[in-house]
Amino acid sequence: MYKLIAFDAYGTLFDVYSVGQLAEKLFPGYGQELSLMWRDRQIEYTRLVTMSDPNPNGSKHYLPFWEITIRSLRYVCKRLNLNLTSDYENQLMDQYAKLTSFTDSLSVLKALKQQGISTAILSNGSREMLATVVESNGLKPYLDKVVTIEDVRLFKTAPQAYELLLKAFPVKSNEILFVSSNAWDALAAKWYGFDVFWVNRLEHPFEEIGEKPNYEGNSLSKVLELI
Ligand code: LAC
Repeated sequence: MYKLIAFDAYGTLFDVYSVGQLAEKLFPGYGQELSLMWRDRQIEYTRLVTMSDPNPNGSKHYLPFWEITIRSLRYVCKRLNLNLTSDYENQLMDQYAKLTSFTDSLSVLKALKQQGISTAILSNGSREMLATVVESNGLKPYLDKVVTIEDVRLFKTAPQAYELLLKAFPVKSNEILFVSSNAWDALAAKWYGFDVFWVNRLEHPFEEIGEKPNYEGNSLSKVLELI
C-alpha cells in the first residue's frame, strides 16, 4: 500500500495547453510548434545545467526554472524568427504562472487525502512559481508538501531530485507512488526506485529505453483505481 503519492507538476497536475493557445494568438500559425519547441528547450536546458555539473551540492550552472523557462522561450522565438517583444514575453510568462489544473487534479488530491494518504508535488519548478499555481488552483489544502528541486539545485532526472521525497517524508522508497505525465520523468523515477504511474492522456508510446511504468492510465483519476 502506498503511503505517499507524489505528483509531477507541469503537464501532470497543471495543463500547459493554454500557453499554446496564447502563443497561437500572438504568433498565428506557430502556436503548436512554438509551445512544443519551448517545452523541449526548457527541459533540454534543465538537463544541460544538471549534467554539466552534477555536484551533489548543486550545479554551478543552476538557474531557477522560471528563468530557464524565459530563456528557452527567447531561444525558440529567435530560432523561429518570431519577434518576441517584452509585452509578448510578459503575456506568455503570465500565462505560465497562472496555468489551470486539469479538471480532475483537485478531486484526485482530495480523495487521496480523505483516505489518509500523504500527497506531494515533486517538481523542477521554482518555489515561488509553484506556490502561485498551487494556490490559484485551490490545491494547497490537499497537498502535504510542495517539494522543489530548488533545494538541491539539480533538476530531474538527477537522483538527488527524486531523493528529496525520502527526505521530506518518513516513508520508504517502496511506499511511494510517483505520478507523471512526462514519460522521461516516469522512467527516471522508476530507475530511481519508485513505483510509477504514467498519465498518458495523448496515447503516446512510452520511451524505448528502461522499464515500463508500473501503471498507466489516460487520466489522473485512474490513480484512484489503485487505492
Ligand atoms: C516538473 C516538470 C518537469 O514539474 O513537469 O517538474
